[in-house]
Amino acid sequence: MPRKFAVFGHPASHSLSPRIHAAFAAQFDQTLQYDIIDAAPEQLADALERFAAEGGVGANITVPHKVAAFELCAEVTDRARRSGAANVLTRVGDGWHGDNTDGTGLVRDLTGRRRLDLRGRHVLLLGAGGAARGVAVSMLDAGVRRITIVNRTPANADALVDTLAAPDHVGSRYWKDMRDIGDFELIINTTSAGRSGEMLDLPSSLVNTLTTAVDISYGEVSIGFLSWARAAGCRHAFDGLGMLVEQAALAYEHWHGKRPDTDEVFADLQSHSVEFASGD
Ligand code: ATR
Repeated sequence: MPRKFAVFGHPASHSLSPRIHAAFAAQFDQTLQYDIIDAAPEQLADALERFAAEGGVGANITVPHKVAAFELCAEVTDRARRSGAANVLTRVGDGWHGDNTDGTGLVRDLTGRRRLDLRGRHVLLLGAGGAARGVAVSMLDAGVRRITIVNRTPANADALVDTLAAPDHVGSRYWKDMRDIGDFELIINTTSAGRSGEMLDLPSSLVNTLTTAVDISYGEVSIGFLSWARAAGCRHAFDGLGMLVEQAALAYEHWHGKRPDTDEVFADLQSHSVEFASGD
């Protein structure tokens, strides 16, 4: 049976993962069987088992399944455990091994492609859901000085602060106090507001002339936040396409033992991304 790969999401039809993995495979003259599997939340466990029975050995997991996938795993990496979510599953024996490459993918995009030095930075993290948790873990590992978490529901921000267990480096503030919390070199939007067509209410006082803003979603759903960033005067603002390509490369390397060139694939997909620099 050929080794099969797939991305699981709901909805999933828009996923760029098949294209990204096919482009990586082409760099090594490989062809892959990589499918899109749209599974509703209550079908995820069964869909993953069926996939494994049909030769599925590697799965990318996207919205809204990352926490559920983590909970289905027989074993997980340390970074997946700390994130409480898994976006890469690998079949090992009769079970799934889970990893989380999202946060590392974001750090690679920021430090490699965008040439940002994260060490010593003060980061504003908008949102405190599953995605925020993975991002916060990776930012701490990358050596940021401080993360300020602001979330619509303050209790969720406080819960994330507690989970991260790094009181010297992480704190939370109320959304309603955002005008009083100063400005930041890096602002990361992890909220799902754009996915539901909602605009975030953000003051321009968060921004200085050196601020970089990143939305971990990509394409259309990131436009609201990135338009705010542009109007507020950020130096640079971009979506999560680079993160998407980097997290996929980490998965590819894990499954196939080869490290693909991500710049070429990122360039090919740029029509799907949103980005601007000051002066644009
Ligand atoms: P994900 O897995 O993408 O992180 P999630 O765990 O459901 O999804 O988290 C969504 C995040 O977006 C939460 O932080 C949520 O805030 P609440 O904790 O208050 O629910 C945030 N969010 C969603 N819609 C929002 C909106 N319109 N304004 C501000 N924050 C929003």
